[in-house]
Amino acid sequence: MSSLEGKKVAITGGGSGIGAGIATALAAAGCHVLIGGRRQPTLESAASQMSGKVLTHVLDVADRQSVETFFQFAEKELGEIDILVNSAGINIANRRMDAMEPDDWDKVLQVNASGAYYCIHQVLPAMRRRKDGLVINISSIAGKRAISLGGVVYCASKFAMTALGTAISNEVRNEGVRITNVYPGEVNTPILDNRPVKVTQEHKDSILQPEDIAALVTAICHLPPRAHVPEIVIKPTTQEWV
Ligand SMILES: NC(=O)c1ccc[n+]([C@@H]2O[C@H](COP(=O)([O-])OP(=O)(O)OC[C@H]3O[C@@H](n4cnc5c(N)ncnc54)[C@H](OP(=O)(O)O)[C@@H]3O)[C@@H](O)[C@H]2O)c1
Repeated sequence: MSSLEGKKVAITGGGSGIGAGIATALAAAGCHVLIGGRRQPTLESAASQMSGKVLTHVLDVADRQSVETFFQFAEKELGEIDILVNSAGINIANRRMDAMEPDDWDKVLQVNASGAYYCIHQVLPAMRRRKDGLVINISSIAGKRAISLGGVVYCASKFAMTALGTAISNEVRNEGVRITNVYPGEVNTPILDNRPVKVTQEHKDSILQPEDIAALVTAICHLPPRAHVPEIVIKPTTQEWV
């Protein structure tokens, strides 16, 4: 098991849900963590509940300038990033083809697919040079199966993330850089509040919790550099998998 003490970690979407869960776990494991998202108060409130070294910086992954500024801050405050977690993501309420608009398509693709690409683009050159680095893409089972729960554009964006992670990973496999696509099923996070049908508290309690994804990601981070997990599905026991 590799030690995570002092590893430099950047987490997009780290102010809530899965990203915050991963930040909490990696900071507790000794990593130096930077979390980013569009709402600074949310980032600060999340960071205040974490132990260890956790920095915050505003970030809009859909905006290339904002991504560049975020990673400049990361390098200045932490140094070169060892582990990037792409957890920033959105969905829309009207998910069916007959309900969504072209602007919805652009918005979701821009955050979920292009945003992940922009962030990997920032950290990859240094990882290749150092011959060491790990990228965790928080995709979704909607990145493996075009499920109606996710909807048209969310599934398309997560399939894009799947291809992004796999294609880059194959390019850099001989340079010590690993990319893992994580495909969670339903997780109890604020993103559920954007569902077309309200999710009951009973259902929220029965599905995965952010700390479950965090435990999985932490285990992947602990693996020695020779071991690569290209992709992994994690779902609530009760959720169907077809
Ligand atoms: N919950 C699930 O059932 C589930 C299942 C599979 C996969 N996922 C994926 O898990 C990831 C995390 O979602 P979550 O479930 O933890 O929900 P969440 O709590 O809503 O987290 C999404 C995070 O992304 C940030 N974000 C959104 N747009 C952004 C942007 N343009 N730039 C930077 N940050 C942005 C949000 O912060 P700001 O609003 O402050 O920017 C928020 O902290 C997403 O990629 C989601 O697709 C979730």
